[in-house]
Amino acid sequence: MKDLFERIINDKGPLGKWAEQAEGYYVFPKLEGPISNRMGFNGKKVITWSINDYLGLANHPEVIKADAAAAAEHGMAYPMGARMMSGHTHFHEQLEQECAEFVHKEAAYLVNFGYQGMVSAIDALVTKHDVIVYDMDTHACIIDGVRLHAGKRFVYKHNDVESLEKNLKRATKMATENGGGILVISEGVFGMRGEQGKLKEIVALKEKYNFRFLVDDAHGFGTLGEGGRGAGVEQGVQDGIDVYFATFAKSMAGIGAFFAADKDIIQYLKYNMRSQMFAKSLPMVMVKGALKRLDMLRTMPELKEKLWENVNALQSGLKENGFDIGNTNTCVTPVFLEGDIPEAMAMVNDLRENHGIFCSIVVYPVIPKGMILLRMIPTAAHTLEDVKATIIAFSEIRDKLKQGVYKKIAEAMLG
Ligand SMILES: Cc1ncc(COP(=O)(O)O)c(C=O)c1O
Repeated sequence: MKDLFERIINDKGPLGKWAEQAEGYYVFPKLEGPISNRMGFNGKKVITWSINDYLGLANHPEVIKADAAAAAEHGMAYPMGARMMSGHTHFHEQLEQECAEFVHKEAAYLVNFGYQGMVSAIDALVTKHDVIVYDMDTHACIIDGVRLHAGKRFVYKHNDVESLEKNLKRATKMATENGGGILVISEGVFGMRGEQGKLKEIVALKEKYNFRFLVDDAHGFGTLGEGGRGAGVEQGVQDGIDVYFATFAKSMAGIGAFFAADKDIIQYLKYNMRSQMFAKSLPMVMVKGALKRLDMLRTMPELKEKLWENVNALQSGLKENGFDIGNTNTCVTPVFLEGDIPEAMAMVNDLRENHGIFCSIVVYPVIPKGMILLRMIPTAAHTLEDVKATIIAFSEIRDKLKQGVYKKIAEAMLG
């Protein structure tokens, strides 16, 4: 028999194996100073394109004031205990009601983290008799929720309605045999490449198939639809979404998340979602902070307008300069380049050190081998000067990449 830790020490995992070369710089970098368009990194100021603070609320003076006032009044602990036992307050209820109203649903329920909440909600919504049908490219929290499912699951090709329909046919047969139902899961916005989920087409399939639809709108909430009400509102199908999910960790610049649905479904989740039944309630600072942020979403449309001014300037500028930004139709802005992993590392190093630009880098196995994805998140806090400087820098690094400059640097570095 092996010692359990033998494998862990020898096989550090697909990302962990890069730790020696990457940690502290490419992964676990330390961005310093107030959250903004320009932050400190490695001793200098960089234009930051990798923070999901879409509406620029993270460092807004009114938000800081509200958070500080809540912390001064309640500390970080209040309320203690799980919602069901001793962690329930009037403010949690108020936030739920306001979130529900905001996204045009009857009721809502808070969860402490989007990730755990999603895992737990999927677990609560289905039994072994039910069938889950989900998009291949969904976020890890959905994949992990599906992993808990004791019944059948079918995965459909990313945003491919034909593939979904094929799987719905199989799922219908299976669910009928098992005496269960079907849960379809998509994202409102796929956060890596920025494509909206085909919510309208999926909802239209309800005419032919009997299923319930769960949408993770982490990146759509606050950025899409009238007033930032999300991808379902943007596509005019919010009513066809049976369970709507959004996190506070992006546009709301906080922590926590919520599910919104008909009141019977929310009532069921309240009594069956294990991540909330057996864990401490969301702290008051986050609850009161979220009430403030939601109020700002409702009353300050200029935040979303500024966000989109920056998104449009960045995306059209990149396209005009010949960059491939895929099929994004949201704020998430991917830039696809060709190169291997060592080249990507040398290029990002140049981008950060010599051009003062910080964005996330995504490589194989998340995207196909030989591709490099620079993923950018424009926010309302960026300026048009940031956009201009970034496009100039990107054009320069693309030329160097094509000329093989980074290949040579990487070879020299790796010996
Ligand atoms: C699509 C999607 N769902 C869920 C989550 C998890 O949300 P949270 O950060 O609130 O745990 C994220 C965050 O990365 C996300 O992008």
